[in-house]
This record gives sequence, C-alpha cells and structure tokens, in this order.
Amino acid sequence: MLAAYAVRADAEAPLDALVVGEIEQPQVPTGWRPVRVKAAALNHHDVWSLRGVGLAADRLPMILGCDAAGVTDDGREVIVHAVINSPDFVGTDATYDPQRSLLSERYAGTFATQVWVPSANLVDKPPELSFAEAACLPTAWLTAYRMLFSQSGARPGDTVLIQGAGGGVATALITLGRQAGMRIWVTSRDEARGARAVSLGAHQAFPAGARLPERVDAVMDGVGAATWSHSINVLKPGGTLVLCGATSGDNPPKAELTKIFFKPLRVIGSVMGTRDELISLAQMLVATGVRPHIDRILPLADAAAGFAAMIAGEHFGKIIFVP
Ligand SMILES: NC(=O)c1ccc[n+]([C@@H]2O[C@H](COP(=O)([O-])OP(=O)(O)OC[C@H]3O[C@@H](n4cnc5c(N)ncnc54)[C@H](OP(=O)(O)O)[C@@H]3O)[C@@H](O)[C@H]2O)c1
Repeated sequence: MLAAYAVRADAEAPLDALVVGEIEQPQVPTGWRPVRVKAAALNHHDVWSLRGVGLAADRLPMILGCDAAGVTDDGREVIVHAVINSPDFVGTDATYDPQRSLLSERYAGTFATQVWVPSANLVDKPPELSFAEAACLPTAWLTAYRMLFSQSGARPGDTVLIQGAGGGVATALITLGRQAGMRIWVTSRDEARGARAVSLGAHQAFPAGARLPERVDAVMDGVGAATWSHSINVLKPGGTLVLCGATSGDNPPKAELTKIFFKPLRVIGSVMGTRDELISLAQMLVATGVRPHIDRILPLADAAAGFAAMIAGEHFGKIIFVP
C-alpha cells in the first residue's frame, strides 16, 4: 500500500529519512479494526519521529502519522483516537498510562491508505465535519482542547497567552479559546503570522518575547526553551503554565525556579487527551460551527512537500494528506 514512512533517524536532515512509496501491510495485533484513511493530518510529532525522537531504531521502517479520519470495513465514518493504551491499563484517563503510545510510535501510523486500531479508538465522525476537518482533531486539536478546558483552569473572561501563533496546536488554541469567551493573546516570531492569528480570532498579537500590557491568567506553551522565561514572567501570581511541547528545545537557558515558587505558579504538562475529550471536542465543533484552519491539502504521494513546509515553519494551520 502507499504510505509515508521513516526509514532511519536523521536529526539534522529529517526529510532525508522520509520515504513516500509502496510498503507491505504492517503486522497488527489480533482484533484491531482496519480503517480506510480518507484524510490524515501532519503534526510536528511526525518531524520529531524523522529526527529519531520517540521512535526507536528497532521499529523502523515505521509508517508515520497520528491523525486520521476514515471509513471502517462496515461503512462507519470515524475519527481515529491516536492514543494506544496497553491492554493491561486500567483507569479512565488514557494519558496516565505509562505504557501508552501514539500511532506511529509502536504501531503503524495514518499516512497510508489504511490504518489498524483497537475498536475503542474509533469515534463516530459527525456528518457536519468533512474528513479533512475531522482528521485535524486527534492530536493538535485534542491537545489544545485538554490544555484549555481540562488543565488550565482558565474561565471565560480570563486572559490566555498562546506562544507561537502559527502552529497546529496554537491555531486550535486560538480558535477554541476565542469561542469559549477567553481573551486570547498570541506571540509570534513573524508579524504576518501574528496578523493571521488575529484574523483567526486572537484579540491581539505580540512579537515573541514582548512585554505585555498586563499579566495573564494562563499561558499555553508548545515552543519550550525559547519561550520558557517569557511564559513564567508574564503570568499573574497564581497563574498556570500549560506545557505541551518543546519545539525549540527542552533545556531553557534559565529554569526560573524562584519565580515559579515565589509567585507562586502552577506548571502543568499535558499530552494529547482522552477518548471522551475527543468526543466532546467534535461535539463542540458541531455546536459552535467552528472548524479547524487548514493550511493546505496535499495528495499523500506529495507528503514530502508538507513535511518540508512544516520544517521550514511556513504553514499556518493544519497540513492534510489525502490518499
Ligand atoms: N503534548 C502533546 O500531546 C502534543 C500534541 C501535539 C503537539 N505537541 C508538541 O507541541 C509543539 C507544537 O506542535 P505543532 O504540531 O503545533 O507544531 P508546528 O505546527 O510546527 O508549530 C510550531 C510552533 O512553534 C513556534 N516555534 C517554532 N520554533 C520556534 C522558536 N525557535 N522560537 C519560538 N517559536 C517557535 C511557531 O510559532 P511562530 O513561527 O508563529 O513563532 C509554531 O507556532 C511540538 O513540539 C509538538 O511536538 C505536543
């Protein structure tokens, strides 16, 4: 089958580790359900995989991709929840499973004509959402939903700063936060991307690292090292920093420990979300009419162009592949 897959790890030239072409169907655990992929969305996670982060060499070649929407063999239109739990996991929050993996880490991912998952990972796709829109939800949008509504403690009327305006998680945070009645501020390294964030719903955009008009209730940060100090400094006493990634590195020049305990702040790590949160997110989109911002839709055969755009930071919103 046609797929986009990693054949090795290349920290410096991740595109050189990507192959788009025919590959044999993967081995999957007994009982997993096939889904014919109608649309799949690219995440920074896929670039990390090509760089060798989170994808062990003994699992190569590995079909990439966490996100998909598609059709099961009995004709059900579904969104694929990308968090794969260990069969031994008991508990209601899939993200607390120490053995959890995301599609494309241990089991073949979604950048293919077909993907296999446990039935518990299938969620009905609301007919109001297109396959491309639905494919945006399982990683970036679910992460944003959980950060804002389960982790941050922010309420309607609170001010939330989102670091790095243009990314997939960031654009989801802007859209969801605005819809939920929060005052949304963003930073970007690029003025034009800041302006686009405002057109998407942010109340105001600031250059990366800028002094803000006042301190904020919560910060959503997926940038990591480059924005860490700023995120700590702009929070009100008692404010919350929700961290979901470290695109610019995970070793900030200053740890800011004194400010964290003295202000005092809450620093919360957040990863993906539960199946129930994915269902609630899909229902929120149906109820509000809000839709993911899609940067471009490419044939899967041209996946390398989508990866190149993400590596160069040229995209604004989600990049979609259609088989
Ligand atoms: N925890 C989870 O479950 C989860 C889920 C999804 C993603 N993530 C992580 O969250 C991060 C964002 O993911 P994504 O898919 O949204 O990635 P993306 O679309 O590539 O976005 C990257 C963002 O980082 C900003 N950025 C990149 N390099 C930067 C730098 N050196 N300095 C300042 N800003 C920089 C960009 O903002 P500007 O160019 O506008 O400044 C952009 O908004 C990644 O690290 C990813 O692994 C985690």
